[in-house]
Amino acid sequence: MQSTLLPRGFLALAAFTLQASAAFLYASSYSGDVTTLNLTLAAPTPPARDVPAWLELDYDNAVLYCSDEGLTKATGSMSSFRTTDDGELLLLNKIDTKQGPVSSVLYGNGGLAVAHYAGSMLNLIDVSDPENLTPFANETFSMDLAGPNKGRQDSPHPHQAVLDPTGQYILVPDLGADLVRIFLISEEDGLSITPVEALVAHPGTGPRHISFLQKDDGDYFLYLISELSNTITGYDVVYTETGPEFFEKFVIPIHGEGEEVPEGAAAAEILVSPDGKFLTISSRMEDAFSIPNPTPEDGPEGEEAPAEIPSDTLVTFSIDKATGTLTLSQKAAAGGRGPRQFTFNKEGSLIAVALQADSRVAILSRNVKTGDIGGVVAAATVAGGVTAVIFDE
Ligand SMILES: *[C@@H]1O[C@H](CO)[C@@H](O)[C@H](O)[C@H]1NC(C)=O
Ligand SMILES: *[C@@H]1O[C@H](CO)[C@@H](O)[C@H](O)[C@H]1NC(C)=O
Repeated sequence: MQSTLLPRGFLALAAFTLQASAAFLYASSYSGDVTTLNLTLAAPTPPARDVPAWLELDYDNAVLYCSDEGLTKATGSMSSFRTTDDGELLLLNKIDTKQGPVSSVLYGNGGLAVAHYAGSMLNLIDVSDPENLTPFANETFSMDLAGPNKGRQDSPHPHQAVLDPTGQYILVPDLGADLVRIFLISEEDGLSITPVEALVAHPGTGPRHISFLQKDDGDYFLYLISELSNTITGYDVVYTETGPEFFEKFVIPIHGEGEEVPEGAAAAEILVSPDGKFLTISSRMEDAFSIPNPTPEDGPEGEEAPAEIPSDTLVTFSIDKATGTLTLSQKAAAGGRGPRQFTFNKEGSLIAVALQADSRVAILSRNVKTGDIGGVVAAATVAGGVTAVIFDE
Protein backbone atom coordinates (compact mmCIF):
# COMPACT_ATOMS: atom_id res chain seq x y z
CA MET A 1 0.00 0.00 0.00
CA GLN A 2 1.36 3.39 -1.02
CA SER A 3 1.65 5.89 1.80
CA THR A 4 1.50 9.61 1.10
CA LEU A 5 4.21 11.68 2.71
CA LEU A 6 3.18 14.82 4.53
CA PRO A 7 5.19 17.34 6.55
CA ARG A 8 6.07 16.78 10.19
CA GLY A 9 3.06 16.59 12.46
CA PHE A 10 0.79 15.14 9.82
CA LEU A 11 -0.44 11.61 9.61
CA ALA A 12 -0.77 10.39 6.07
CA LEU A 13 -3.34 7.84 5.09
CA ALA A 14 -3.54 6.67 1.54
CA ALA A 15 -5.79 4.22 -0.25
CA PHE A 16 -7.59 3.72 2.94
CA THR A 17 -10.81 4.98 4.45
CA LEU A 18 -11.99 4.80 7.99
CA GLN A 19 -15.41 5.29 9.39
CA ALA A 20 -15.73 8.85 10.68
CA SER A 21 -15.96 7.71 14.28
CA ALA A 22 -12.43 6.36 14.19
CA ALA A 23 -10.88 9.54 12.88
CA PHE A 24 -8.99 10.56 15.99
CA LEU A 25 -6.29 8.86 17.99
CA TYR A 26 -4.63 10.15 21.12
CA ALA A 27 -0.97 9.51 21.79
CA SER A 28 0.95 10.15 24.99
CA SER A 29 4.71 10.51 25.02
CA TYR A 30 7.60 11.27 27.33
CA SER A 31 7.86 14.72 25.69
CA GLY A 32 5.12 15.84 28.04
CA ASP A 33 2.45 16.14 25.35
CA VAL A 34 -0.72 14.34 24.58
CA THR A 35 -1.12 14.55 20.82
CA THR A 36 -4.31 14.23 18.85
CA LEU A 37 -3.78 12.46 15.55
CA ASN A 38 -6.39 12.91 12.88
CA LEU A 39 -6.12 10.00 10.48
CA THR A 40 -5.49 12.54 7.78
CA LEU A 41 -4.31 15.47 9.85
CA ALA A 42 -2.48 15.72 13.14
CA ALA A 43 -2.94 18.72 15.39
CA PRO A 44 -0.55 18.72 18.36
CA THR A 45 -2.27 19.89 21.51
CA PRO A 46 -0.57 22.14 24.08
CA PRO A 47 1.83 20.43 26.48
CA ALA A 48 -0.03 19.27 29.53
CA ARG A 49 2.17 16.64 31.01
CA ASP A 50 5.65 15.77 32.05
CA VAL A 51 6.13 12.13 31.14
CA PRO A 52 2.71 10.78 30.18
CA ALA A 53 2.60 7.03 30.44
CA TRP A 54 -0.94 5.86 29.88
CA LEU A 55 -4.26 6.93 28.39
CA GLU A 56 -7.72 5.82 29.41
CA LEU A 57 -10.71 7.08 27.39
CA ASP A 58 -14.23 7.39 28.76
CA TYR A 59 -15.77 7.51 25.31
CA ASP A 60 -19.39 7.89 26.45
CA ASN A 61 -18.58 10.92 28.55
CA ALA A 62 -15.88 12.31 26.23
CA VAL A 63 -13.20 12.36 28.91
CA LEU A 64 -9.60 11.25 28.46
CA TYR A 65 -7.46 10.37 31.49
CA CYS A 66 -3.70 10.62 31.19
CA SER A 67 -1.21 9.61 33.83
CA ASP A 68 2.24 11.13 34.13
CA GLU A 69 4.88 8.66 35.25
CA GLY A 70 7.10 11.30 36.88
CA LEU A 71 10.29 9.49 35.91
CA THR A 72 12.60 12.31 36.91
CA LYS A 73 10.90 13.48 40.06
CA ALA A 74 9.33 12.22 43.25
CA THR A 75 5.72 12.58 42.11
CA GLY A 76 3.52 11.57 39.22
CA SER A 77 0.17 13.03 38.27
CA MET A 78 -3.21 12.30 36.74
CA SER A 79 -5.01 14.63 34.35
CA SER A 80 -8.47 14.62 32.83
CA PHE A 81 -9.29 16.19 29.47
CA ARG A 82 -12.54 16.88 27.66
CA THR A 83 -12.36 15.45 24.13
CA THR A 84 -14.01 17.52 21.41
CA ASP A 85 -15.34 16.97 17.91
CA ASP A 86 -12.43 18.88 16.42
CA GLY A 87 -9.78 16.82 18.22
CA GLU A 88 -8.87 19.43 20.79
CA LEU A 89 -8.16 18.28 24.34
CA LEU A 90 -9.29 20.64 27.08
CA LEU A 91 -7.65 20.16 30.46
CA LEU A 92 -10.30 19.69 33.16
CA ASN A 93 -8.21 18.83 36.19
CA LYS A 94 -4.72 17.71 37.17
CA ILE A 95 -3.65 16.28 40.50
CA ASP A 96 -0.32 15.13 41.91
CA THR A 97 0.04 11.47 42.82
CA LYS A 98 2.75 9.14 44.05
CA GLN A 99 5.35 8.44 41.35
CA GLY A 100 5.15 5.90 38.57
CA PRO A 101 1.49 5.71 37.42
CA VAL A 102 1.86 3.54 34.29
CA SER A 103 -1.63 2.19 33.62
CA SER A 104 -5.20 2.92 34.64
CA VAL A 105 -8.68 1.52 34.22
CA LEU A 106 -12.18 2.90 34.78
CA TYR A 107 -14.32 0.67 36.97
CA GLY A 108 -17.52 0.40 38.97
CA ASN A 109 -19.31 3.58 39.84
CA GLY A 110 -16.95 6.34 38.66
CA GLY A 111 -13.70 4.80 39.86
CA LEU A 112 -10.29 4.98 38.22
CA ALA A 113 -7.73 2.42 39.43
CA VAL A 114 -4.13 3.40 38.72
CA ALA A 115 -1.13 1.05 38.85
CA HIS A 116 2.04 2.77 40.13
CA TYR A 117 5.14 0.89 38.98
CA ALA A 118 7.74 2.92 40.86
CA GLY A 119 5.43 3.67 43.77
CA SER A 120 4.49 -0.02 44.37
CA MET A 121 0.90 1.14 44.72
CA LEU A 122 -2.63 0.87 43.41
CA ASN A 123 -4.30 4.27 43.68
CA LEU A 124 -8.08 4.68 43.58
CA ILE A 125 -9.48 7.95 42.28
CA ASP A 126 -13.13 8.99 42.28
CA VAL A 127 -13.63 10.48 38.81
CA SER A 128 -17.43 10.81 38.91
CA ASP A 129 -16.75 14.52 38.52
CA PRO A 130 -13.84 14.66 36.03
CA GLU A 131 -13.23 18.29 36.98
CA ASN A 132 -12.53 17.23 40.53
CA LEU A 133 -10.36 14.10 40.59
CA THR A 134 -10.54 12.75 44.14
CA PRO A 135 -8.15 10.03 45.34
CA PHE A 136 -9.98 8.23 48.10
CA ALA A 137 -8.01 5.07 48.86
CA ASN A 138 -4.85 3.23 47.94
CA GLU A 139 -3.09 -0.07 48.49
CA THR A 140 0.68 0.01 48.91
CA PHE A 141 2.48 -3.29 48.39
CA SER A 142 5.68 -4.54 49.94
CA MET A 143 7.76 -7.70 49.93
CA ASP A 144 10.31 -8.98 52.41
CA LEU A 145 12.84 -10.32 49.92
CA ALA A 146 13.78 -9.29 46.40
CA GLY A 147 12.61 -11.60 43.62
CA PRO A 148 14.95 -13.84 41.57
CA ASN A 149 15.66 -10.98 39.14
CA LYS A 150 17.42 -8.68 41.60
CA GLY A 151 17.64 -5.75 39.21
CA ARG A 152 13.95 -5.58 38.33
CA GLN A 153 12.33 -7.31 41.30
CA ASP A 154 13.68 -5.23 44.18
CA SER A 155 10.13 -4.34 45.20
CA PRO A 156 6.55 -4.78 43.94
CA HIS A 157 6.02 -3.12 40.56
CA PRO A 158 2.37 -3.03 39.51
CA HIS A 159 2.44 -2.67 35.72
CA GLN A 160 -1.21 -2.58 34.67
CA ALA A 161 -4.73 -2.24 36.02
CA VAL A 162 -7.41 -4.23 34.15
CA LEU A 163 -11.11 -4.78 34.74
CA ASP A 164 -12.15 -8.43 34.49
CA PRO A 165 -14.86 -9.31 31.93
CA THR A 166 -17.57 -9.45 34.59
CA GLY A 167 -16.70 -5.96 35.85
CA GLN A 168 -16.49 -7.29 39.42
CA TYR A 169 -12.71 -7.43 39.87
CA ILE A 170 -9.63 -5.33 39.18
CA LEU A 171 -6.53 -7.30 38.19
CA VAL A 172 -3.04 -5.89 38.61
CA PRO A 173 -0.04 -7.74 37.13
CA ASP A 174 2.93 -7.04 39.40
CA LEU A 175 6.29 -7.40 37.65
CA GLY A 176 8.29 -7.17 40.86
CA ALA A 177 6.31 -9.61 42.98
CA ASP A 178 5.50 -12.27 40.32
CA LEU A 179 1.80 -11.92 41.08
CA VAL A 180 -1.40 -10.83 39.43
CA ARG A 181 -3.08 -9.06 42.32
CA ILE A 182 -6.87 -9.23 42.42
CA PHE A 183 -9.39 -6.93 44.09
CA LEU A 184 -13.13 -7.28 44.49
CA ILE A 185 -15.06 -4.10 43.75
CA SER A 186 -17.66 -3.31 46.41
CA GLU A 187 -21.19 -4.05 45.23
CA GLU A 188 -22.45 -1.40 47.61
CA ASP A 189 -20.60 1.73 46.55
CA GLY A 190 -18.94 0.50 43.34
CA LEU A 191 -15.73 2.22 44.46
CA SER A 192 -14.04 0.58 47.42
CA ILE A 193 -12.08 -2.62 46.85
CA THR A 194 -11.00 -5.65 48.88
CA PRO A 195 -8.04 -7.88 47.98
CA VAL A 196 -8.85 -11.49 47.19
CA GLU A 197 -6.43 -14.35 46.50
CA ALA A 198 -3.82 -13.35 43.92
CA LEU A 199 -2.74 -15.36 40.90
CA VAL A 200 0.81 -16.57 41.68
CA ALA A 201 3.05 -16.51 38.60
CA HIS A 202 6.27 -18.48 38.16
CA PRO A 203 9.21 -16.96 40.11
CA GLY A 204 11.32 -14.46 38.20
CA THR A 205 8.94 -14.21 35.22
CA GLY A 206 7.83 -10.59 35.76
CA PRO A 207 4.09 -10.42 34.91
CA ARG A 208 3.46 -7.29 32.83
CA HIS A 209 0.10 -7.28 31.03
CA ILE A 210 -2.99 -9.50 30.65
CA SER A 211 -5.87 -9.98 28.23
CA PHE A 212 -9.08 -11.99 28.60
CA LEU A 213 -10.84 -14.25 26.09
CA GLN A 214 -14.41 -15.49 26.24
CA LYS A 215 -14.36 -19.06 24.98
CA ASP A 216 -17.09 -20.69 22.89
CA ASP A 217 -18.61 -22.27 26.00
CA GLY A 218 -18.95 -18.83 27.62
CA ASP A 219 -16.19 -19.40 30.17
CA TYR A 220 -13.19 -17.09 30.34
CA PHE A 221 -9.53 -17.66 29.59
CA LEU A 222 -6.65 -15.41 30.64
CA TYR A 223 -3.42 -14.68 28.77
CA LEU A 224 -0.52 -13.28 30.77
CA ILE A 225 2.61 -11.84 29.15
CA SER A 226 5.68 -11.84 31.38
CA GLU A 227 8.46 -9.43 30.52
CA LEU A 228 11.41 -11.02 32.32
CA SER A 229 10.84 -14.55 30.97
CA ASN A 230 9.39 -13.44 27.59
CA THR A 231 6.59 -15.96 27.94
CA ILE A 232 2.82 -16.16 27.50
CA THR A 233 0.93 -18.16 30.10
CA GLY A 234 -2.65 -19.31 29.48
CA TYR A 235 -5.13 -19.96 32.28
CA ASP A 236 -8.67 -21.24 32.48
CA VAL A 237 -10.62 -18.85 34.69
CA VAL A 238 -13.22 -20.24 37.07
CA TYR A 239 -15.33 -17.84 39.13
CA THR A 240 -16.02 -18.98 42.67
CA GLU A 241 -17.70 -17.25 45.60
CA THR A 242 -14.34 -16.10 46.93
CA GLY A 243 -13.01 -14.80 43.62
CA PRO A 244 -11.64 -16.00 40.30
CA GLU A 245 -9.42 -19.09 40.28
CA PHE A 246 -6.84 -19.74 37.59
CA PHE A 247 -5.80 -23.10 36.15
CA GLU A 248 -2.60 -22.98 34.13
CA LYS A 249 -2.95 -24.61 30.72
CA PHE A 250 0.35 -23.72 29.03
CA VAL A 251 3.47 -21.57 29.05
CA ILE A 252 5.02 -20.74 25.68
CA PRO A 253 7.76 -18.37 24.50
CA ILE A 254 6.42 -15.07 23.10
CA HIS A 255 7.45 -16.23 19.62
CA GLY A 256 5.45 -19.43 19.95
CA GLU A 257 5.88 -23.02 21.02
CA GLY A 258 9.36 -24.30 20.18
CA GLU A 259 10.40 -20.93 18.72
CA GLU A 260 13.51 -19.06 19.75
CA VAL A 261 13.09 -15.59 21.29
CA PRO A 262 15.93 -13.25 20.22
CA GLU A 263 18.53 -12.46 22.88
CA GLY A 264 17.73 -9.22 24.72
CA ALA A 265 14.06 -9.13 23.69
CA ALA A 266 11.59 -7.53 26.12
CA ALA A 267 7.92 -8.51 25.90
CA ALA A 268 5.50 -5.63 26.31
CA GLU A 269 1.84 -5.62 25.23
CA ILE A 270 -0.68 -8.46 24.82
CA LEU A 271 -4.20 -8.15 23.38
CA VAL A 272 -6.94 -10.48 22.18
CA SER A 273 -8.40 -9.15 18.91
CA PRO A 274 -11.92 -7.66 19.03
CA ASP A 275 -13.43 -10.82 17.48
CA GLY A 276 -11.61 -13.07 19.98
CA LYS A 277 -9.99 -15.10 17.20
CA PHE A 278 -6.40 -13.89 17.48
CA LEU A 279 -3.89 -12.87 20.11
CA THR A 280 -1.13 -10.37 19.34
CA ILE A 281 1.88 -9.52 21.49
CA SER A 282 4.65 -6.96 21.06
CA SER A 283 8.32 -7.56 21.67
CA ARG A 284 10.93 -4.82 22.00
CA MET A 285 14.69 -4.72 21.40
CA GLU A 286 14.64 -7.31 18.64
CA ASP A 287 15.39 -5.23 15.53
CA ALA A 288 14.17 -8.29 13.64
CA PHE A 289 12.94 -6.46 10.53
CA SER A 290 14.11 -3.80 8.14
CA ILE A 291 11.19 -1.77 6.77
CA PRO A 292 10.73 1.32 4.59
CA ASN A 293 11.09 4.40 6.79
CA PRO A 294 7.48 5.46 7.49
CA THR A 295 8.45 9.01 8.52
CA PRO A 296 11.44 9.90 6.30
CA GLU A 297 10.54 13.60 6.44
CA ASP A 298 11.25 13.64 10.18
CA GLY A 299 14.98 12.85 10.16
CA PRO A 300 17.58 15.01 11.94
CA GLU A 301 17.94 18.51 10.42
CA GLY A 302 20.20 18.57 7.38
CA GLU A 303 20.69 14.81 7.27
CA GLU A 304 19.26 12.49 4.72
CA ALA A 305 16.80 10.16 6.43
CA PRO A 306 17.50 6.46 5.99
CA ALA A 307 15.27 4.76 3.43
CA GLU A 308 14.97 1.73 5.70
CA ILE A 309 14.70 1.47 9.48
CA PRO A 310 14.94 -1.44 11.92
CA SER A 311 11.68 -2.68 13.43
CA ASP A 312 10.69 -4.78 16.39
CA THR A 313 8.07 -7.49 16.25
CA LEU A 314 4.37 -8.12 16.65
CA VAL A 315 3.67 -11.83 17.02
CA THR A 316 0.15 -13.07 16.25
CA PHE A 317 -1.41 -16.37 17.26
CA SER A 318 -4.72 -17.86 16.21
CA ILE A 319 -6.88 -18.85 19.16
CA ASP A 320 -8.70 -22.14 19.53
CA LYS A 321 -11.85 -20.75 21.12
CA ALA A 322 -12.82 -24.11 22.55
CA THR A 323 -9.64 -24.41 24.63
CA GLY A 324 -7.79 -21.06 24.51
CA THR A 325 -4.77 -22.77 22.90
CA LEU A 326 -2.52 -20.61 20.72
CA THR A 327 -1.03 -21.44 17.33
CA LEU A 328 1.62 -19.14 15.85
CA SER A 329 0.25 -17.47 12.75
CA GLN A 330 2.48 -14.49 11.93
CA LYS A 331 5.51 -12.46 12.94
CA ALA A 332 5.13 -8.93 11.59
CA ALA A 333 7.08 -5.68 11.72
CA ALA A 334 5.73 -3.35 14.42
CA GLY A 335 6.45 -0.19 12.38
CA GLY A 336 9.66 0.66 14.25
CA ARG A 337 11.42 0.14 17.55
CA GLY A 338 10.07 -0.18 21.08
CA PRO A 339 6.39 -1.17 20.65
CA ARG A 340 5.51 -0.51 24.28
CA GLN A 341 1.76 -0.58 23.71
CA PHE A 342 -0.72 -1.03 20.88
CA THR A 343 -4.49 -1.09 20.36
CA PHE A 344 -6.87 -2.44 17.74
CA ASN A 345 -9.65 -0.29 16.39
CA LYS A 346 -13.08 -1.77 17.15
CA GLU A 347 -13.44 -3.29 13.72
CA GLY A 348 -10.02 -4.92 14.03
CA SER A 349 -8.93 -3.56 10.65
CA LEU A 350 -6.17 -1.36 12.11
CA ILE A 351 -3.57 -1.50 14.86
CA ALA A 352 -2.12 1.67 16.34
CA VAL A 353 1.36 1.04 17.78
CA ALA A 354 3.14 3.29 20.30
CA LEU A 355 6.81 3.01 19.29
CA GLN A 356 8.62 4.38 22.31
CA ALA A 357 12.18 4.01 21.02
CA ASP A 358 11.39 5.75 17.70
CA SER A 359 9.06 8.49 19.01
CA ARG A 360 6.58 7.31 16.41
CA VAL A 361 2.97 6.21 16.17
CA ALA A 362 2.41 3.72 13.36
CA ILE A 363 -0.98 2.61 12.08
CA LEU A 364 -0.78 -0.86 10.56
CA SER A 365 -3.43 -2.46 8.41
CA ARG A 366 -4.86 -5.75 9.55
CA ASN A 367 -6.81 -8.46 7.77
CA VAL A 368 -9.74 -9.15 10.08
CA LYS A 369 -10.32 -12.64 8.60
CA THR A 370 -6.75 -13.98 8.75
CA GLY A 371 -5.49 -11.81 11.60
CA ASP A 372 -2.47 -10.94 9.46
CA ILE A 373 -0.91 -7.56 10.08
CA GLY A 374 0.11 -5.66 6.95
CA GLY A 375 2.34 -2.68 6.40
CA VAL A 376 2.29 0.83 7.78
CA VAL A 377 -0.68 2.76 6.33
CA ALA A 378 -0.02 5.92 8.32
CA ALA A 379 2.66 7.14 10.69
CA ALA A 380 3.49 10.24 12.66
CA THR A 381 6.47 11.36 14.65
CA VAL A 382 5.46 12.34 18.17
CA ALA A 383 8.16 14.08 20.18
CA GLY A 384 9.46 12.06 23.12
CA GLY A 385 9.15 8.32 23.64
CA VAL A 386 5.56 7.43 22.71
CA THR A 387 4.02 5.44 25.54
CA ALA A 388 0.41 4.86 24.52
CA VAL A 389 -1.96 5.41 21.64
CA ILE A 390 -5.71 4.81 21.55
CA PHE A 391 -8.53 5.25 19.03
CA ASP A 392 -11.38 7.64 19.88
CA GLU A 393 -14.35 5.43 18.98
C1 LIG B 1 -9.66 15.52 10.18
O1 LIG B 1 -9.56 15.03 8.85
C2 LIG B 1 -10.76 15.15 8.09
C3 LIG B 1 -10.53 14.48 6.76
O2 LIG B 1 -9.47 15.08 6.07
C4 LIG B 1 -11.10 16.62 7.96
O3 LIG B 1 -12.32 16.75 7.24
C5 LIG B 1 -11.28 17.22 9.34
O4 LIG B 1 -11.50 18.61 9.24
C6 LIG B 1 -10.04 16.98 10.18
N1 LIG B 1 -10.31 17.44 11.53
C7 LIG B 1 -9.53 18.32 12.15
C8 LIG B 1 -9.96 18.74 13.50
O5 LIG B 1 -8.52 18.74 11.68
C1 LIG C 1 -3.28 6.84 50.50
O1 LIG C 1 -4.55 7.01 51.06
C2 LIG C 1 -4.54 7.66 52.33
C3 LIG C 1 -5.92 7.63 52.92
O2 LIG C 1 -6.93 7.64 51.96
C4 LIG C 1 -4.01 9.08 52.15
O3 LIG C 1 -3.96 9.73 53.38
C5 LIG C 1 -2.63 9.00 51.55
O4 LIG C 1 -2.16 10.29 51.26
C6 LIG C 1 -2.63 8.19 50.28
N1 LIG C 1 -1.27 8.01 49.84
C7 LIG C 1 -0.87 8.29 48.60
C8 LIG C 1 0.57 8.09 48.35
O5 LIG C 1 -1.60 8.68 47.71
